[in-house]
Amino acid sequence: MRQIFCVFIAIFLLISGSCIAKQKKNRDIGSNNIYRITLYDSFGKVSSKLWTIANIEALGARRMSSSYFDRALKYSDTEFDAVSLLKIIDQFQLKNDEDAILLNCFDDYQGLLSLSDIHKYDLHLVTKIKVRLGSSKPDWLNPLLVLVPDGKNPPFLERFLTANIKELKFVRLKDYYMPLKKVADVSIESRQGFEVYKNNCLFCHGLKGKGGNKGVRLLDVYSFSKDEDQKKFLSDFKNFHDKDNADKQDVKQFVTDVQIKTVIEFLLAFKKK
Ligand code: HEC
Repeated sequence: MRQIFCVFIAIFLLISGSCIAKQKKNRDIGSNNIYRITLYDSFGKVSSKLWTIANIEALGARRMSSSYFDRALKYSDTEFDAVSLLKIIDQFQLKNDEDAILLNCFDDYQGLLSLSDIHKYDLHLVTKIKVRLGSSKPDWLNPLLVLVPDGKNPPFLERFLTANIKELKFVRLKDYYMPLKKVADVSIESRQGFEVYKNNCLFCHGLKGKGGNKGVRLLDVYSFSKDEDQKKFLSDFKNFHDKDNADKQDVKQFVTDVQIKTVIEFLLAFKKK
């Protein structure tokens, strides 16, 4: 009898032990509303801090709306609780010429904002989002979310709509874009294409280890060298990324026909390398 009792105790300890392990895992970034903000010190070392929604809101959350967001998502009257990104930046001492924040997201999206854009447009970080009753909400539309407040008018770009953020990292723009810029430096069109790509596509279609992986690697799917291949790229882009996109990824609204052709020149430069 005593032996059976001991076995029971052992099983109980095993189960409760694994429960504790699970709870610990839940404190990882993102789950339980925990986010990571990373800073590199002057020696290049990393110092990471975990933040909760409550920590972020304590910096001064405000109820607000955004016609920029509503226009891009085709919503109306969306309500947000948001904190100015400037208040978050103020919490850190930047000693290493950091001039941008990299935004890593749960869905393999990778956003990037320059500190100068954050200042110029008073960009905010959303902690709560309430879409109007009856509106459908895509999976990826969760805090933390970058928000353009009403009254500010940055150019209309995918860049200012990063959602589902789990991690913020201070970086240097020059370091981040350098490998891509080098490849683009072959013609005016290719350099223009690089600008369009980095403001609208790189976040999901990564290149050279930069950007996200939410979409396919375009260089693997298209050769770009033949006319018919370029045409297929253009029509696939228009068919997938238009206003009827089921996942609200209407990227077409941000780029003109001329701009998308310069993107081909930019991607072609990679093929020729
Ligand atoms: C929010 C993320 C996101 C952004 C931003 C984005 N894409 Fe996509 N794209 C996708 C996803 C997801 C698909 C679906 C197919 C896949 O898995 O890649 C896709 C599909 C495509 C396809 C068709 C590929 C195929 O295999 O069917 C093309 C072409 C394309 N994107 C080009 C672009 C270009 C050019 C831009 C910038 C102007 C862009 N995308 C911006 C996520 C994105």
